[in-house]
Amino acid sequence: MKNPNSLILLTKISKNYHRGNETVHALQEVDLSIERGDFIAFMGASGSGKSTLLNVIGGLDQCSSGSYLLNGVEVSKVPEKKWIYLRRQWFGYVFQSFHLIPTLTVKENIELPLLFAGKQKLQDKIHNTLVEIGLDHRMNHLPSQLSGGEMQRTAIARAVVHNPPILIADEPTGNLDSENATMIFRLFQTLNQKHNITILCATHDPALAKQCSRIVLMKDGTMWEE
Ligand SMILES: Nc1ncnc2c1ncn2[C@@H]1O[C@H](COP(=O)(O)OP(=O)(O)O)[C@@H](O)[C@H]1O
Ligand SMILES: [Mg+2]
Repeated sequence: MKNPNSLILLTKISKNYHRGNETVHALQEVDLSIERGDFIAFMGASGSGKSTLLNVIGGLDQCSSGSYLLNGVEVSKVPEKKWIYLRRQWFGYVFQSFHLIPTLTVKENIELPLLFAGKQKLQDKIHNTLVEIGLDHRMNHLPSQLSGGEMQRTAIARAVVHNPPILIADEPTGNLDSENATMIFRLFQTLNQKHNITILCATHDPALAKQCSRIVLMKDGTMWEE
């Protein structure tokens, strides 16, 4: 049942890419509603459309057709200039390859979104985030001095330091061993349960996906729910 009050409501969203003469149908008229507090795993083979979907939802890419309501507001045709603000207001992003700035310390990496948002460096907030993520003892280290798990935890701290309602994570454990992957998911559960952050996570790991509140399966740009 469609609920117009959903946090996110996608209706017949398609995304086509053009490669030479070929058209790739990366998303084919997908419908999806996401409620506040959901923790959703998106699973499916490589090329099934997980990243495309997360990029469309997170405003990193625009759909070709369909309707996208974010908190009741149609955003599918919002120009890039406005998306800059929507991204800051609504989303944090975590990627497989961390994307930390190598010349900045852990603490400086985490401060970055606050600077971009024109907010003061909220020292308490940054410190609390570091403690919550378990990296307060590493705050003056450079990324090169961290383990993979610590790098990803830094990236997660950076993604949530400005209190976004939605965290988008595209295969966040893809470069981690199972122990660190488990730790990242434990952190997601804390963020989800304690701070009510809605989490949208692409993953290949069924054991991790089972810990989410919903599992959406994808194949060839279509989706269904378990
Ligand atoms: N920028 C792009 N240009 C052309 N084709 C793309 C682009 N990004 C993704 N695709 C294609 O879209 C389909 C879905 O890709 P993607 O969303 O990355 O899948 P997944 O994240 O599940 O591996 C694939 O066929 C992929 O090759
Ligand atoms: Mg992908």
